[in-house]
Amino acid sequence: MKVLVLGGHGTLGSAVVKELKESSRNYEIITAGRKTGDVQVDMSSEKSIRNMFKQIGKVDHIVSAAGSAAVKELENITQEDIMFSVNNKLVGQVNIVLIGSEYVKEKGSITLVAGIIKDKFIKQGTMLASTNGAVAAFAKAAALDIKQNIRINCVSPSVFNESMEEYGEYFKGIKPVPVKNAAKAFVDLIESDKSGEEVKVY
Ligand SMILES: NC(=O)c1ccc[n+]([C@@H]2O[C@H](COP(=O)([O-])OP(=O)(O)OC[C@H]3O[C@@H](n4cnc5c(N)ncnc54)[C@H](OP(=O)(O)O)[C@@H]3O)[C@@H](O)[C@H]2O)c1
Repeated sequence: MKVLVLGGHGTLGSAVVKELKESSRNYEIITAGRKTGDVQVDMSSEKSIRNMFKQIGKVDHIVSAAGSAAVKELENITQEDIMFSVNNKLVGQVNIVLIGSEYVKEKGSITLVAGIIKDKFIKQGTMLASTNGAVAAFAKAAALDIKQNIRINCVSPSVFNESMEEYGEYFKGIKPVPVKNAAKAFVDLIESDKSGEEVKVY
């Protein structure tokens, strides 16, 4: 079974790849990123997503482990921050479902990534909260609406232990989790028959 892991060389994506390799199901893994990965894609560009799928063809499952949003005080958020956050975290993943669903085989799945900062709020986290919330709502609604016989889910992880050095100062009061726990949630969803679920890893 072929699995496309977007952001497969990042903190989350590489943990998902490791978990897939440890599964008994013998997955063939394709990683994608702007600069890293087996194939190049910029998820903020529809054209780039279409080019990637033309190159790789049909897959059984897609995991999205990419996307970012601005972390900034409300009064300092610029139009560029809004567009960056919406395009990277939300529109990119929406387009992965819209375009990617044409390339996922029957009974396959697409799993998106949201995050804890839609339920538990932090200072400077408005763009994270709003884009995470939109991704989770989109995944649940799209699962009902999708014409193809494929499943759509999302994982909302807490901040990872492995990312605390980089992001810890922003996530005060939020209990971190090992990235392996989040990666396991993605693989469990792939191997389940669930659709329209948000798995919270916190
Ligand atoms: N880190 C955390 O604690 C945490 C917690 C909860 C949720 N999340 C969410 O999990 C996701 C991954 O986070 P992470 O910490 O693993 O990030 P990361 O380590 O920075 O990795 C991001 C990966 O995505 C790729 N990427 C970034 N922008 C892309 C784009 N526009 N198009 C295609 N690929 C792109 C990067 O590769 P290239 O550089 O080659 O493009 C990289 O492989 C994000 O959505 C984040 O919000 C993270």
